[in-house]
Amino acid sequence: MTLGTWRDLVYLLAAIGFILALKGLSSPRHARRGNLLGAAAALVAIGFTFSDPALRSSGRNLVLAVVAMVIGTAIAVPAARKVKMTAMPQMVAIFNGVGGGAAALVAMTVFLIDAPGKPAVYRIAEVIFGVLVGCVSLAGSAIAFAKLQELMTGRPITYPAQQVINALIGLVILGLALATLVTGSTPLLVVMAVLSLVLGVIFVLPIGGADVPVLISLLNSFTGLAVAASGFTLNSNLLIIAGTLVGASGMLLTQMMSKAMGRSLPNILFSAFGSVVTAAGGADGTGADARPVKAGTPEDVGVLLAYANKVAIVPGYGLAVAQAQHTARELADALAERGVEVYYAIHPVAGRMPGHMNVLLAEANVPYDQLKEMDDANPEMGTTDVALVVGANDTVNPAANNTPGSPIYGMPIVHADQAKQVIFLKRSMRPGFAGIDNELLYDPKTTMLFGDAKETLTKLVAAVGSA
Ligand code: TAP
Repeated sequence: MTLGTWRDLVYLLAAIGFILALKGLSSPRHARRGNLLGAAAALVAIGFTFSDPALRSSGRNLVLAVVAMVIGTAIAVPAARKVKMTAMPQMVAIFNGVGGGAAALVAMTVFLIDAPGKPAVYRIAEVIFGVLVGCVSLAGSAIAFAKLQELMTGRPITYPAQQVINALIGLVILGLALATLVTGSTPLLVVMAVLSLVLGVIFVLPIGGADVPVLISLLNSFTGLAVAASGFTLNSNLLIIAGTLVGASGMLLTQMMSKAMGRSLPNILFSAFGSVVTAAGGADGTGADARPVKAGTPEDVGVLLAYANKVAIVPGYGLAVAQAQHTARELADALAERGVEVYYAIHPVAGRMPGHMNVLLAEANVPYDQLKEMDDANPEMGTTDVALVVGANDTVNPAANNTPGSPIYGMPIVHADQAKQVIFLKRSMRPGFAGIDNELLYDPKTTMLFGDAKETLTKLVAAVGSA
């Protein structure tokens, strides 16, 4: 067998590794293994790239490739190790943007190499696709990063005729793409690349910070497609397969997130959601028309929990903000020791990124058999004595079921309202991400425990201990 055949064989194995890695990521139980498998497959594939004659025959290319890899590793490894769990979406955004930019540069370089003669039309088409999608992804991801990192406002930035202007720029880009296809002109391609960067920026500006994780998943999918296009350009089956896998899985994840939020993708991308707060009584629930609620003490709630048969912990964004996952586990352990059946009811879009709650609870080593996805948890709610809602709001808001016209109407929710008693751990009456009131907070069977979730959970652990 020639070296080239060996390389293709290894690339095939790496592609199988990527597919198995994706499969592994489908459950927290084997996500770690899936991640390691994907990383190992990528490492082997990159290693075998050095057997490529194009790379080996030029000492300069070899040195440049190694230098680029050393710089990339030196930046990425410490960044990934240090990143806080709450800052994960922006890290994914920036890594994704760099991938899109790389795909655009590869396409551009190939075009410049081919440029002296007019390249075949299909090659120009591959290049145009890679440059356009890669540039949109790079610029869009950079703005997504800036929003999440609070380098700029996270609120939607809107201005008159915004979508019309975006559409016009999109049309100009399409025109330039067609002109480049016909003429093979480098200057036209460069102008198209610059306008694609502009489109990436203005496309993301009206998207609110909390919708940005969905956008990142979409841009991730775009980057995958740009990488697949550069695979065609470079004749690399591995890049075609890897890019297509990223493109397809990113698109599926985007759809699943939109569905779990009960909103269409166009609504997420174009409605500037999050610019308006409609909660009665003002954003902090202290306005003139604020309604009375039942507030409790940790001691009373501790007794209630200690003598319950079955308790559901419903975590949400506030758990992440308070970094209360370890304390939640302490409370669950204390209850389990007393013979109380405890489970965590996980909504698919609780928090601000896919799998947010699963990642936090896995970090706290919560036993997997206590984690119940929403669809498995909901049938149990009717027989649950206490639903302890820790920093969740929209994901338990019954308006999603019974208030047509509500921004979250149609979103599936965790049915905490069906438990015999509901306890909310939050700091105030402020609404959640959707900016709307939650009737469950005012329900006679609901008790509010105001305060930071971690502090309140610590008090509850003590109260259960002395109950
Ligand atoms: P939210 O509805 O956003 O509510 C979070 C609640 O946590 C707030 O009401 C807040 O109330 C409370 N909170 C914040 N900090 C806290 C702290 N330190 N201690 C205690 N409570 C605290 O959360 P959710 O139920 O998880 O719903 C997620 C929302 O985000 C959904 O609308 C979803 O569609 C959206 N979203 C999700 C994703 C993904 S992929 N997960 C992506 C984009 C958007 P106080 O301020 O009163 O404390």
